[in-house]
Amino acid sequence: MSTGPDIRRVGVAGGGLMGAGIAEVCARAGCDVRVVVTTDRSRDASRARLERSLDASVARGKLGVDERNAVLSRVSFGTELNEFADRQLVFETVTEDEGTKVKLLRQLDGILPDSDVVFATNTSSLPVTRLAAATAHPGRVVGTHFFNPVPAMPLVEVTGGPETDARTVERTEAFVTRVLGKEAIRSADRAGFVVNALLVPYLLSAVRMAESGHASAEDIDKGMTLGCGHPMGPLRLADLVGIDTLRAVARGLYEESGDPAYSPPEILTRMVEAGRCGQKSGRGFHSYSQQHQ
Ligand code: 3HC
Repeated sequence: MSTGPDIRRVGVAGGGLMGAGIAEVCARAGCDVRVVVTTDRSRDASRARLERSLDASVARGKLGVDERNAVLSRVSFGTELNEFADRQLVFETVTEDEGTKVKLLRQLDGILPDSDVVFATNTSSLPVTRLAAATAHPGRVVGTHFFNPVPAMPLVEVTGGPETDARTVERTEAFVTRVLGKEAIRSADRAGFVVNALLVPYLLSAVRMAESGHASAEDIDKGMTLGCGHPMGPLRLADLVGIDTLRAVARGLYEESGDPAYSPPEILTRMVEAGRCGQKSGRGFHSYSQQHQ
């Protein structure tokens, strides 16, 4: 069995904001990374997202052009899950929907029967225990919650359910800390783990404040950046997370806990229906130029 630091062949299922970010940090750490998405279109979008992020690092002077090209050469993109057959660790980063995640994990079971391969689910609101229970080897399923933007945020929450092998949690934590250079915190398998349990009610309070006309989006954000020293205000942060993602996470937490603090305000649904999904779609509570998307 490989230890965490020995893991070098990584799979990433899903190439959205989180998937592309996780692929980037793994490739920057020297891993061979295979990203699998469902359509040719999302494959192209995912590759473009990774290239944009690396180019932004080059422009900031954080990455040389040769290194950028080397990182890109370590990432391959495909549309068939059986391209994961030789992976030692697979991150599942598909949409925050239990049925979708369970279906994917079961498909991965068929492709990776060796119970030594770690399945890491990047959920931020679904219980790892339930996802693990739906698979053939619950002992190898672990939660890894990365933060957006993945290359910039140093934290990963690592969560094992009651059926997760202690060794799986240790290997995963060793991988995210010693290979990826992130900081890890462990959380029990509770709704929202540590960070979203605290963050989501705060973001939703800001959404309700804007919706009720209590203050403008600009002033709410200014209040929390200048008044409390946060790097960005809650509505800009909601835009960064994605309005659709925030709504899905809040729904999951509300269903799990029954706590009204997590109940997503209707305006989030209207914004998603209008295509205002935040920074990635150009508009949310604020507007964004294409270079930020
Ligand atoms: N990729 C790589 N590095 C990046 C980056 C990116 N996309 N964006 C910023 N950085 C790095 C910069 O290189 C710079 O590094 P340095 O300090 O070593 O020079 C540093 O981050 C600061 O960047 P900038 O000066 O360009 O920009 P800002 O100071 O405005 O910082 C930010 C940008 C890091 C995004 C900052 O605004 C921030 O920390 N915002 C809060 C983000 C946050 O809270 N994320 C968590 C979201 S919750 C979540 O993801 C969970 C989900 O389940 C809901």
